[in-house]
Amino acid sequence: MCLSVQIRFFITLVFLLSTFSRQAKGKLFNVLDFGAVGDARTDDSKAFLDAWRSVCEATTTSGATMPTLQVPAGKTFLLKQVKFSGPCKSATVQIQMMGNIIAPMSTDWTDCKSGCWLCFDLVDNLIISGTATINGNGAVWWQKSTHVLYFQSCNNLRVSGLTSHNSPLNHIGISGCKGVSISKINLIAPNDSPNTDGIDIANSNQLDISDSFIGTGDDCIAINGGSSNIKITRLNCGPGHGISVGSLGKDGSNDMVEEVHVRNCTFNGTQNGARIKTWAGGLGFARSISYEDIILIRAGNPIFIDQHYCPHQNCPPEKQTAVKVSDVTFSKFQGTSADNIAITLNCSSIVPCTNIKMNLVNITSLYPSSKVEAICNHADGTATSTAPVVPCLSSVQDVLIRREGQTQDGDQEPQYNEL
Ligand SMILES: *[C@@H]1O[C@H](CO)[C@@H](O)[C@H](O)[C@H]1NC(C)=O
Ligand SMILES: *[C@@H]1O[C@H](CO)[C@@H](O)[C@H](O)[C@H]1NC(C)=O
Ligand SMILES: *[C@@H]1O[C@H](CO)[C@@H](O)[C@H](O)[C@H]1NC(C)=O
Ligand SMILES: *[C@@H]1O[C@H](CO)[C@@H](O)[C@H](O)[C@H]1NC(C)=O
Repeated sequence: MCLSVQIRFFITLVFLLSTFSRQAKGKLFNVLDFGAVGDARTDDSKAFLDAWRSVCEATTTSGATMPTLQVPAGKTFLLKQVKFSGPCKSATVQIQMMGNIIAPMSTDWTDCKSGCWLCFDLVDNLIISGTATINGNGAVWWQKSTHVLYFQSCNNLRVSGLTSHNSPLNHIGISGCKGVSISKINLIAPNDSPNTDGIDIANSNQLDISDSFIGTGDDCIAINGGSSNIKITRLNCGPGHGISVGSLGKDGSNDMVEEVHVRNCTFNGTQNGARIKTWAGGLGFARSISYEDIILIRAGNPIFIDQHYCPHQNCPPEKQTAVKVSDVTFSKFQGTSADNIAITLNCSSIVPCTNIKMNLVNITSLYPSSKVEAICNHADGTATSTAPVVPCLSSVQDVLIRREGQTQDGDQEPQYNEL
């Protein structure tokens, strides 16, 4: 009697456990089970796509494991262009990226049309995590503006842990996404690689990028039109072109960017640091932008607002319009500039920059005997405790002097806007 109860209990337990594990396993889709080989030579694109289809078709009951694409560790999977499309049936889907991914050699790269290698489209609540390295294989045959990872219309996206290297073009592209968190990633490219932006953002909002290293040849992060509420924290950037808002207003376009807040970042050996760049003749605005607690190590152009951005030939002339730049704060900058012009505010005579604020900025020259300076055109605002002196910004001291109807002593060059 007692024994049979025990046996029945045991059988029930085994049954329950096996059901549970089957259910759990039912939500885990290992690419190896779909025929992936992972020897860095065999094309595993189809296996990944088949596994993705199963993930995306899977449904979940509440509390169960979310559908998960598993890329196992210890292997390297060769993928051609792969498009992971949504929408998916489950509210949340996951990719556990433990194994590495490598791009094919040029001759195997035939029908890449859209601008991405690993493309995600319309997948909401996607979590990509893992320790994988994604190797672009120096794929010089890629078209311009190709991205390694491209997220189009993916709301509530979380990416963490990944490393991307050897990409000749942009690493991560984010377009039309709302609610994105990126953390603990490493994006690496040689200093001299052209157009290898780290993270390119367009038409997206509520982004949080933190605790990452980005050393690429171009912008560590570029924030393009239609983007707002972007937080960037504890990013180590360099080599590269810094963290840029823009370029905005190219070919007369109407671009809007607001609420961009960069905190506790380091620019190490970058060509630019905190930068806002707009083309002549554009429309729209870049406003409510702040850079705070920034460390500069041999940074070129540490602070740079350029309303005449034009990197190549055939620059548009100043027209009656420009992207308006306003409410920009640079606060607590410390470190060395590789250029003797440490601060450039080169704004438009037609649509000047307004309410530019600097506070506790202390930039010195990389070269012991050299001095750094600031250049200003058509910008206004205030500066406190800022070196070098920014001539167009008034310091609290200047305001007092002006209020008292006095003029400043022209002989003495002050070291700080306010001491
Ligand atoms: C930024 O760094 C300062 C000084 O190290 C620290 O007190 C502050 O908590 C940091 N803030 C963030 C958001 O990391
Ligand atoms: C700055 O970059 C140089 C060269 O890449 C590197 O050796 C150094 O460790 C970096 N410094 C910091 C503080 O990250
Ligand atoms: C400011 O922009 C104008 C127009 O492009 C350019 O001629 C000038 O050299 C720039 N000044 C600085 C200091 O960059
Ligand atoms: C500015 O930085 C230099 C070099 O790090 C340092 O010697 C100096 O004390 C700093 N000045 C202020 C006012 O913090």
